[in-house]
Order: sequence, then C-alpha cells, then structure tokens
Amino acid sequence: MYAQMVTSEAADDSPEARAFQARIDAGEKIEPKDWMPEAYRRTLIRQIGQHAHSEIVGQLPEGNWITRAPTLERKAILLAKVQDEAGHGLYLYCAAETLGVSRDDLTEDLLSGRMKYSSIFNYPTLTWADMGAVGWLVDGAAIMNQVPLQRTSYGPYARAMVRICKEESFHQRQGYDIMLKMCRGTPAQKRMAQDAMNRFWYPALMMFGPSDKDSVHSAQSMAWRIKINTNDELRQKFVDETVPQAEFLGLAIPDTDLRWNEERGHYDFSEPDWTEFYDVIKGNGPCNVERMTARRKAWDDGAWVREGLLAHARKKAGKVAAE
Ligand code: 3HC
Repeated sequence: MYAQMVTSEAADDSPEARAFQARIDAGEKIEPKDWMPEAYRRTLIRQIGQHAHSEIVGQLPEGNWITRAPTLERKAILLAKVQDEAGHGLYLYCAAETLGVSRDDLTEDLLSGRMKYSSIFNYPTLTWADMGAVGWLVDGAAIMNQVPLQRTSYGPYARAMVRICKEESFHQRQGYDIMLKMCRGTPAQKRMAQDAMNRFWYPALMMFGPSDKDSVHSAQSMAWRIKINTNDELRQKFVDETVPQAEFLGLAIPDTDLRWNEERGHYDFSEPDWTEFYDVIKGNGPCNVERMTARRKAWDDGAWVREGLLAHARKKAGKVAAE
C-alpha cells in the first residue's frame, strides 16, 4: 500500500510547500507533527520501511552460521550481531510508524513483493569466511551509507541512525577480524577468505543503489535532504576506504581495472553488473525465494503472539474504560 511511489515526487508549489522547503534548506529537522508534503512522507515511508526490512532479512544469511561458528567466542559475537540487526529493524519500523504507517502494512508490502529489502541479502553465505566478508564489506557499506543519514531531515530517522551507526561499527570490526584471522591462517583458510571476497565484492557495491544517472529518487530525495550524498559518491568512498584494507589482508579485489587515479584522487573501478542488480531486485536472485519463505513463515508463526498481545491490550483498555 505504501510502496507505490507518489505519482510525482516533485513537491507542490503551495505556500506551505515553499515554507517547508525553506525549513529543509535551513537544515531544520522535520518532526512527526510538522506539516510535510505527502510526497515527502511517502518517500520516507518507502526508504525507512525498506531499510527496516533490510535489517530484518539481513539476519537470515548470518543466522545460518550461528550454530556452526568455529568457537564459542565467535558464536557469541555473531549472536550479538544478529540480535543487534533485529534492534535496528525495530528502531526503523518505529521511525516509520511516526509517519502513520503500521508495521502490519509494511510487512504486508514486503511479503507481497511491493516493498524491497537490500539486494545483498539475496546472496548465499556458503562458508565461515562469508561471515567475515559480510561484516567487513556489507556492514562496511552499510556504515558508509548510514553515517550521512544521521543528518537526514526527518528527526526520528536521523535519531534512529545515531544508535544504529554506533552498533554497525562493531559489526564491521568483527567481520574484518574474522578475515584477518583467516588470511593469517592456513593456505586453505586464506583461499576461503579470497573466495568470500570474490563473491561479495560486487554485490556490496550494488548496495549503494544504481548509478546516479539511473537513480529514480536521488534528485528529489537530496532536495528534501532525505538523502545527503548520491549513490555514486558513497560507492566511491566505500571503494577508496576498502581497497587499502584488502591490501592489508593480502586479498585481491576481483577487478582487473581497479587502479589509483592520482588526478581524480580516487580509485577507478569496474561498475557492478547492473543487469544482475535489476534481476536480483526483481526477485530472481539466488536466495530471494528462500528469504521470503523464511519471512512469511516467521510472520505466520508469530500470529498467535500478536493476537494474544492485542487481546490483552483490548481487555486492559476495556477495564480502564469501565473504571
Ligand atoms: N537493493 C534493493 N533495492 C534497491 C537497492 C538495493 N541495493 N538500491 C536501490 N534499490 C531500489 C530503490 O529502493 C528504488 O526502488 P523503489 O522505488 O521500489 O524503492 C530503485 O532501486 C531506484 O533506486 P534509487 O537510487 O532511485 O532509490 P533511493 O534513492 O531510495 O536509493 C538507497 C537507494 C541508496 C538504498 C536508499 O534507499 C538508502 O540509502 N536507503 C537507506 C539505507 C538502506 O536501506 N540500506 C540497505 C542496507 S541496510 C543493511 O545493510 C543492514 C546492515 O545491518 C547490514
């Protein structure tokens, strides 16, 4: 219901809309009770809702390794990380609810395919080294994308991001620590780490969204300071910061065109395969069906808990009304 983007994202030209844009341009925070263009509200519901879905679906590829972690310490760290992601989803669903949308609506849109979650979570986690690559590259990319969102114009979203970014840094460090351990380990462990790097590098680049020329929402989202940087700016920042980390690990980035460009002051790198990207977000990735089946089962299995809580709340409200 909330996934359909508004017919036009262009803000209307009413005096309220002009006053609203002046607040945005002045760097003010917009709060739930403030006037906002309907298109701004729906854009936020779309982005925050899909962000929340990504956090929850993102638990699945890592949850897959909790029972198979190589040591009790690694199991405890991975367990803590997966629990954090549930909390991130909670903060973000709560932020979305301040815009007048219910979690049930958002979940219905996810399960029906009308709303998305990050493409990265449609790739399988085949070895323990993938836990390192996910923490290092996926959470590393998420940090790159989320740190600027602490300054986003919508107050509840910005405040949720402050808490999330603090925890995300632990996620990235524990992943890098796994990769360091394996790269300093046996030749077989090093090969496993390189294989994980090879499989997660381009899907991690896709997390930043399509290239700017193909981004549907960027221009308007940046005008409303929902988005602070463009997709390509953040992707470039991620590459520039990650290449030296890969070199320190002794891992080769699977891109023969990757090279430092002194003139630009950045790395030149190969773009991801955008056909693959659009195929995955259309539902044809390696794990899309598995992820949605798991989410649908969790939603159905949890129905009795939701019904019990609602019945209790209604009974309590009834009692209060009768007093
Ligand atoms: N996966 C799935 N869909 C994607 C995508 C991706 N990696 N990148 C873009 N898209 C979708 C957009 O949602 C949009 O589709 P829609 O109209 O149906 O919503 C379409 O592709 C066009 O992309 P745009 O660039 O025009 O869309 P946005 O301006 O919304 O930019 C975004 C996409 C950069 C992901 C932006 O929405 C954003 O910054 N979102 C907040 C951060 C977020 O959601 N990160 C996802 C990962 S969270 C995570 O990894 C958890 C961590 O703990 C591991």
